[in-house]
Amino acid sequence: MQPYSPPIHEFSRLGHGYCYFDSAATCLVPETVLQQWLEFYRHQHASVHRSSHSASRSATALLEQARQSIAEFIGADAANLCLPASTTAALNLLAQQLPISWQAGDEIILSVAEHHANLLPWQRLAAQHQLTLKWLEFDRKSGALAAGWQQLFSPRTKLLAVTAASNVTGAVLPLTALCAAARAVGALSVVDAAQAAAHVALQVQQIGCDALVFSGHKCYGVTGAAALYLQPQLWPLMQPGLLGGGMVEQVEREQAQWLQSIQRFEAGSPDSAAIISFAAALQWLTQQHQHGLQQHLSGLRQQLLDGLQQRDWLRVLPSGEQATPLVSFYSAQVHAYDLAMWLDAANIAVRAGSHCAQPLLQHLGVASVVRVSLGAYNSGADIVRLLRELDNAHSALA
Ligand SMILES: Cc1ncc(COP(=O)(O)O)c(C=O)c1O
Repeated sequence: MQPYSPPIHEFSRLGHGYCYFDSAATCLVPETVLQQWLEFYRHQHASVHRSSHSASRSATALLEQARQSIAEFIGADAANLCLPASTTAALNLLAQQLPISWQAGDEIILSVAEHHANLLPWQRLAAQHQLTLKWLEFDRKSGALAAGWQQLFSPRTKLLAVTAASNVTGAVLPLTALCAAARAVGALSVVDAAQAAAHVALQVQQIGCDALVFSGHKCYGVTGAAALYLQPQLWPLMQPGLLGGGMVEQVEREQAQWLQSIQRFEAGSPDSAAIISFAAALQWLTQQHQHGLQQHLSGLRQQLLDGLQQRDWLRVLPSGEQATPLVSFYSAQVHAYDLAMWLDAANIAVRAGSHCAQPLLQHLGVASVVRVSLGAYNSGADIVRLLRELDNAHSALA
């Protein structure tokens, strides 16, 4: 196979000395996907699932085709895939609506690497029902999931809610084993795949989870659309979170009956353009993978790791054996924010801070780190430039 060639021409902001290393927060959107978005608003925009005129019927068909192809991306049936606005919205929906009859003392298992979006909703639920939160830890030296995690699961465990990959270290978690452990004690499992979806093959049947969520904008789509897979025996037992148009079978003055389909979780007008371009983004991403994107990004990650590790003034956070293409690091001599600002002035975008994962940074004993996250548009030359600017920052600021 030819080596992967970053499709820079798809990204009009690039090619003028600008290096974008914040794809784990949100990816730049390729022209192909933007064209799809524009095409929808120019020629196809109409209300979906409402009106009977032909433009509305066509827009509805486009939306449902998009649902179908997003579902296929994770090996799910479209009948079990709903389309919330974001991973955050989906996780909040799950925390409020999972059909679990909570008793005081029941346990939820989370990892210490959860993004706040997969932590705060469960924290609030735990406070409401006097539940116990239990924690999957990470080995400080290797960065992998700490051994002995199986012991956390008990007959009191009602839920596992876990990230597929850390947004700070990139560590990929053993989802199939974790979900099997949850199932073995009769607990439900929720997977936050926001960081993994663009990089790791995710097939819900093989993972064996009850729910899985990810956002379009971290997979080269626009913001405003996400995917929430719900296991077919689960969602008919769940109440909708938002109530309104488009999710009811029948409404009378005093009562209403919800739709018997997954659309019961999609009250109100959806962001059709975002959903349709989400499907286009996944198609684009799949093509990039067929051209060797994954090998390209793991090569760049290794180049970056080697470069960082040669600089003894930097400390790299370990990630275990399997990791998404991002690296976080810090320095005892220069604050992470100062490094990020220096790089910004050199036209290099990285992220610094606690990355909405404060418990992980507390666990690691670090206040803030610089995160370099890679995307399809990055090249070896970008890494060389980044390392050179880090050296310049060190000379100027240490
Ligand atoms: C692991 C993880 N979960 C959830 C989220 C939240 O995603 P969104 O902002 O699309 O709701 C993020 C965003 O960075 C994330 O990295």
